[in-house]
Amino acid sequence: MPNARILDGKALANRLQAELAQEVQAWSAVTGVKPGLAVVLVGAEPASMVYVRNKRKAAHSAGFEDHLIEMPSDISQQALVDEVEKLNANPAVHGILVQLPLPKHLDSEQILRRIRPEKDADGFHPVNMGLLALGTPKLVPCTPLGVKELLIRESIPTKGKRVVVVGRSNIVGKPMALLLMAKGEGGDATVTIVHTASEDMPGLCREADILVVAAGQPEMVKGSWIKPGAVVIDVGIHRRADGSLCGDVDFAEASEVASAITPVPGGVGPLTIAMLLRNTFEAAKSLVSSNPS
Ligand code: GUN
Repeated sequence: MPNARILDGKALANRLQAELAQEVQAWSAVTGVKPGLAVVLVGAEPASMVYVRNKRKAAHSAGFEDHLIEMPSDISQQALVDEVEKLNANPAVHGILVQLPLPKHLDSEQILRRIRPEKDADGFHPVNMGLLALGTPKLVPCTPLGVKELLIRESIPTKGKRVVVVGRSNIVGKPMALLLMAKGEGGDATVTIVHTASEDMPGLCREADILVVAAGQPEMVKGSWIKPGAVVIDVGIHRRADGSLCGDVDFAEASEVASAITPVPGGVGPLTIAMLLRNTFEAAKSLVSSNPS
């Protein structure tokens, strides 16, 4: 039996989605509008197809209208940009998500920049990343937002705590650090980012009261990297050769040392989807109130 409390992201995501569904219903009754989420899927990568299916299912059950745009894997950059522009101009679409990774011949960064910042459900546009960096966030990347929500709802204090984020990606590590260092609830932490060029990664991780791991390496973080009693948040998800799933953290070892830990699956993943819906609803409310029909 692990010593650590298991942080049940799936259960929290279900609660958050139920709360959101009620808010959406009330808002739709007043405005006559359903929040619209457009998901763009290029190609047929099996993992992306599973993620997209889960996102659409959640959107449906929360009272959203969902628009699936499927494109062949050999689509040109211009054709994909044209599709994004169409969604930008479509008043029934309030949130746009281009599922990543895109095929190699496409320039993801340029495509993400073409999404209208007001409809950027993923929060990846430079305007939204900039607002987050300046401490005035609007649409925030979903995975770090989900981790913050989990820490708040599980009453894990961050104020004044040493938080170490493993990974410096634009999708998780960087925005995660910005959220944790921001002023206010779920923030006010002392944040260190460690990455592939860091010296003594295990030693730096051992300093953490809260360790957030988004390294993209299966079971990289060992029990010996964790300070006894620390909280461990595992953002990774990988499929082992035997078909089972694991995270970036060696769960068997870490759960003996940590005081609380997220499982994989059923930890951070479901929260990402809950935050995607929240972002889309926030976008819908802003767009409809600034342009009522
Ligand atoms: N692929 C893996 N994670 C994500 C995400 O958060 N958003 C999008 N659009 N694609 C992803």
